[in-house]
Amino acid sequence: MITLTDINFSYEKNRQALHNVSCTFAENSFSVIVGASGCGKSTLLRLLAGLEEPTSGALIMPPALSTFSTFSTGFVFQDPTLLAWRNVYDNIALPLKIKGLDKTSRHTRTQEALALVGLAERADAHPRELSGGMKMRVSLARALASRPRLLLMDEPFAALDEHTRFRLEDDLRNLQQTLNCTIIFVTHSVAQAAYLGERVLVMGASETNDETGDETGGSIKHILNPPAHQQDWRHNPAFHAACATISAALAEVEAA
Ligand SMILES: Nc1ncnc2c1ncn2[C@@H]1O[C@H](COP(=O)(O)OP(=O)(O)O)[C@@H](O)[C@H]1O
Ligand SMILES: [Mg+2]
Repeated sequence: MITLTDINFSYEKNRQALHNVSCTFAENSFSVIVGASGCGKSTLLRLLAGLEEPTSGALIMPPALSTFSTFSTGFVFQDPTLLAWRNVYDNIALPLKIKGLDKTSRHTRTQEALALVGLAERADAHPRELSGGMKMRVSLARALASRPRLLLMDEPFAALDEHTRFRLEDDLRNLQQTLNCTIIFVTHSVAQAAYLGERVLVMGASETNDETGDETGGSIKHILNPPAHQQDWRHNPAFHAACATISAALAEVEAA
């Protein structure tokens, strides 16, 4: 269990990015964070990754997930950031080399990660030969190759076309069932939040004090639990109702 208690964070004085964020993330759960641009979603992921320290409050990670262990946390961004001159295999294996894994382990993990994302046949391809969806699969494989216990995903599918995005969403859900991994996924898409999340955390934007100009950071305003998937879920009225519930929560937060 990851526990955040009254986390505040400021990049600079008088400009708070996060305000009194308290929440927990159970082991092997799939949480989605949704909220308007600038409300602090990426900042929250950076704190969870140990890339930033809270200005105040407590962030408690289970020992197996120590933020100091570079093996335990994987990060996937919207931009796949692949090395153009390296093939798929090397793009996945290189970070493992940098982390000091021996050649046999690197090979095992790279093969395993390629299989998980369905790219075993494309190990020799270069990024320019791949579609946007495939590049994202490589990026995901690179994160999975370190066998993370925590996978942080920051709007990873936002640049993909809808058909590709739907496939990746289904694959990610299936992967999560087999991986021993906690996923925290940031999006600004309501439908994606409703589709992916076992739990959806709705964040509200930061507020500016008109008199002082001081900014109070974003915070978690609602925690919702979309229903379990049923047959033909994307076209199921219950799914559309879940989307409407999240939309209403976001609208309420934005009107506040
Ligand atoms: N490196 C930074 N330095 C200063 N301010 C930042 C930095 N990164 C983000 N911010 C500010 O912190 C707030 C939250 O940003 P961010 O976490 O990126 O929001 P989101 O991901 O929800 O769009 C915004 O006001 C943004 O301008
Ligand atoms: Mg962001």
